[in-house]
Order: sequence, then C-alpha cells, then structure tokens
Amino acid sequence: PGTLVELLESRLRDIPDFPSPGVVFKDVTPLLADGEAFGAVVADMADRRRGTIDLVVGIEARGFIFGAALAQQLGIGFVPVRKAGKLPGRTRGVSYDLEYGSATIEIHEDSFIGGERVLVVDDVLATGGTAEAACRLLEDGGAEVVAFEAPIELEFLHGRDRLQGRDVHTTLVVRGG
Ligand code: PRP
Ligand code: MG
Repeated sequence: PGTLVELLESRLRDIPDFPSPGVVFKDVTPLLADGEAFGAVVADMADRRRGTIDLVVGIEARGFIFGAALAQQLGIGFVPVRKAGKLPGRTRGVSYDLEYGSATIEIHEDSFIGGERVLVVDDVLATGGTAEAACRLLEDGGAEVVAFEAPIELEFLHGRDRLQGRDVHTTLVVRGG
C-alpha cells in the first residue's frame, strides 16, 4: 500500500492553461470521484484534529467539499466562507489582493458566539491570500483559528510566508512551477 501523498498525487489531474495561459490547474475531481481516496484524505484530517476543534470553516468552493466531509466525520458543525454577495444573512467581509485585482470573501456575522476553536479548510494553498484573509475574518469575528489545512500546497507560490505564526498543514506539496 502506498502513502497518502502517493494516493493523492495519483488522483490529481493537471490541466494546463486553466484558468489562464501558463497556469497548471490541480484538478481534484478524480480524487473526489474515488470514494476510498477521498475518504482517506478526510480521515487523515479527522485523525489530526479530533477533539481539538469546535467547528470547521470551509472556503468556497472546494473547501466546502473537504470541510463538510470532515465536519461530519468529527460530528461537529460547518461554517461557510463565501465569495461576496452569496450569503443570504448579514455578513462581514474582507478584501484581499489577487495577482490581478482583488477579491472579497464573507461570513455570516453571527457565525460565532466567541472563542470557538475552528479549523479552516480549503483544497489548495497557493499564494496564501485567500487563507490569510479567511483567518483574519474569523479572528475578527471572535473565533480562535487553530489551524489551516489543505490537501494540496503549491510551494513555489510561498503561501506559508503569509501564514507565519499559524499552524498550517498540507499533504501533497507541489514543488516547482
Ligand atoms: C483557488 C483555490 C483556493 C485559492 C488558493 O480558489 O481553491 O481557494 O484559489 O489561492 P491563493 O492561496 O493564492 O489565495 P479560486 O479562487 O480559484 O476559487 P474557487 O475555489 O471558488 O474555484
Ligand atoms: Mg478556492
């Protein structure tokens, strides 16, 4: 039996020039379609976090998939962080810079009573802009961000540098662009 990293690697598909020329997109849909592999990735996160968190926060869109599965496995709740304008209730937002332009993510302002220990989940850590913004949003809302997790890390984009001082866990580290 191979390692989890090997399993993950074998179930990812590289899509060249998506969403723009020169970018190689890491497509997780083959992983999700393989129940055993998807389950192994979620079980690994669950084993690491069991008993240490109160809520899972998932980042739209693929963070919802991994995050919701994890929350259910741990028997705890799930809170979504969404792109601007998608959540129906009263929200708080934070904007952050992208390579070109900027983006805003939002959370329902009543998501936390204060002091909840949360794990933030996404699919990929790239420049770290999204993850950093999400952590700030949660902390401003009164949550305690225990850690950030993503199955995949694009190391050459140095996302960890933006998350210094935080517990960051990724499984498959992609080196070289
Ligand atoms: C991708 C990926 C992460 C984020 C990582 O999402 O799913 O959420 O980018 O990039 P960063 O570390 O440079 O911030 P994307 O913005 O493509 O949106 P989607 O998940 O809704 O498709
Ligand atoms: Mg995303």
